[in-house]
Amino acid sequence: MSLSLRPTDATLGAVITDVKLSALDAAAWHDIESAFLDYGLLIFPGQHLNAKAQLEFALRFGEIEVLAEGMTTIPIANKTPDGKLLEAESDRMKLLRGNEGWHTDSSYMRLASKAAVLSAHVVPASGSQTQWADARAAYDALDDATRARIAGLAAHHSYFYSQAKIGHQVEVGAAYGFFAGESPLRPLVKIHPVTGRAALYAGRHAARIPGMEQAEAEALIKHLNEFICQPPRVHTHHWQPGDVVVWDNRRLLHRACPYDYSQERVMMHTRIKGDIETESALNARLMAA
Ligand code: OGA
Ligand code: MN
Repeated sequence: MSLSLRPTDATLGAVITDVKLSALDAAAWHDIESAFLDYGLLIFPGQHLNAKAQLEFALRFGEIEVLAEGMTTIPIANKTPDGKLLEAESDRMKLLRGNEGWHTDSSYMRLASKAAVLSAHVVPASGSQTQWADARAAYDALDDATRARIAGLAAHHSYFYSQAKIGHQVEVGAAYGFFAGESPLRPLVKIHPVTGRAALYAGRHAARIPGMEQAEAEALIKHLNEFICQPPRVHTHHWQPGDVVVWDNRRLLHRACPYDYSQERVMMHTRIKGDIETESALNARLMAA
């Protein structure tokens, strides 16, 4: 390893300081790629990437998942394009507040996400944090009875469900490109396609478990989510403008922490597509029909 890498105190995450992401050589990229698989979350302070450089960095991890309005890198910002702070009751703000629940990106899409790059541009003076939790370490720490109980179980993931839970009625067919119909079905235990390691896979979009009564399914999903998001499996990053992070959506959950919404917060997000063989929903073929 030629990089200077400092692991966090948690089971996931490392901070890398002596590298310029906009000018990586092959050796540095090799180290970053293997650290990404080892730590799940990499934090690069002080990079100040522009949108083009962020996209180029994200492309090293794979193809880009196109998000709203055909954009490959989207602002996660509490202001309108003409610079006004979002109203608390606006749909856009409810979408952002949704990020405050533990989740893994695009689990409600036919193809779940592989990874995401997020950078800080404007940070509230009173601070802003994001947290990540290690669902792989959680699987390793799980008791045998729960492991046996969840083996073979899968959950339907739904954005309509997770947003409704926080009082946001997403319209079916709304311009987010989500499924209007059946929600993708995903195993509660995900085998990582590269490392072969098992991780719990749930988060706030996990809505229903086929064959299980709803109250029981919700209690199980809640229990798994809470178990994942316990120390030493949680890392909190305090953002500074210029910071860039990348995380593995196949292994981690993450959430935004509440901040002072009367202050501007501008982040840029680039999402990397999952591999079709390993991040497709179990029912994707049925759904495509
Ligand atoms: C995301 C996300 C959290 C944050 O970009 O996918 O969940 O802190 N962001 O903005
Ligand atoms: Mn997210």
